[in-house]
Amino acid sequence: MAKWEGLLQQYKEFLPVNENTPMLSLMEGNTPLIPLVNISKKLGVNIHVKVEGANPTGSFKDRGMVMAVAKAKEEGSNTVICASTGNTSAAAAAYASRAGMKTIVVIPDGKIAMGKLAQAMMYGAEILAIEGNFDEALTMVRNISEMSPITLVNSVNPYRIEGQKTAAFEVCDQLGKAPDVLAIPVGNAGNITAYWKGFKEYNEKFGTGLPRMHGFEAEGAAAIVQGAPIAQPETVATAIRIGNPASWKFAEAARDESNGKIDFVTDAEILEAYEMMTREEGIFAEPASNASIAGIIKHVKSGEIEQGANIVAVLTGNGLKDPQTAIAQIEKKPTVLPNSEEAVFDFIKGVVKA
Ligand code: F0G
Repeated sequence: MAKWEGLLQQYKEFLPVNENTPMLSLMEGNTPLIPLVNISKKLGVNIHVKVEGANPTGSFKDRGMVMAVAKAKEEGSNTVICASTGNTSAAAAAYASRAGMKTIVVIPDGKIAMGKLAQAMMYGAEILAIEGNFDEALTMVRNISEMSPITLVNSVNPYRIEGQKTAAFEVCDQLGKAPDVLAIPVGNAGNITAYWKGFKEYNEKFGTGLPRMHGFEAEGAAAIVQGAPIAQPETVATAIRIGNPASWKFAEAARDESNGKIDFVTDAEILEAYEMMTREEGIFAEPASNASIAGIIKHVKSGEIEQGANIVAVLTGNGLKDPQTAIAQIEKKPTVLPNSEEAVFDFIKGVVKA
């Protein structure tokens, strides 16, 4: 097997990499594409999941961040800033540490998952929690970055999209061609934009074909579906708790050019998919990621995805990012027993019989 050298090295001919670009890497990318055996059979389609939680900080953000931080460093910047629902902040802080740079993150207070906060803290970011939502934080950091030499690394930074498009390249390489349908959660809409760009570029170069792009917002944050920004978005999937997606127009272009659809899924549907994926497939991705699975279920039922379709669902982040939602979801808690082998064995006998 050829040695994996990280995204900037691996895909440099497709990326804005030149002789002055630092070849930053935590060996991101090259994530697994896993077939869903049981859910595919149940639905009558052929689903693979792109497990982006296998990236170094546990989400797809590493793909965009390695590129954005490398370019910031190349341009002489020493500090990056971002607004975040959590994953962006973890990735920014990790890559900035690696590059010897400082990170400032602005997050909605109390609305980011514990694993993500722990990461940003450990990687050494300066964390500012505001009494506001992601959209308000993004407006702030956009303005601040314009008035200062600090580099903005949210997905409005075009280098983020460049890095993230590499996931589409990998999907084509892993499947041998593009799938019929790409199902993806939509928050700020950078990733759907990036995948579509990646599929188009790879198709131009290698004739790998183009998928229909099916994006899924959470019902309480479905601005694109409703056609208007949402001032106070709400969803259990805090990663996509976004009411005014920055890449709204690009997401609509991906949808329209690909003959796809952007739809919403309810929190109940997200949580049902979250449990189904762990119980029936052994795959633990964070709630927002399961919007893509919930969306596939919805569109197979409605006939918008045809029987027998080849589908790739993007699982954007690792389930361990959000332990609170996992624990809250499961009614059954660990059984506490005395420190006695007999008591433990008796209990097990009861379970095995049942
Ligand atoms: N899934 C996860 C796990 C995410 O963290 C995000 C976005 C998305 C999906 C949506 O991707 O914004 O490109 O449409 N998280 C950002 C953050 C907003 O700050 O970590 P998108």
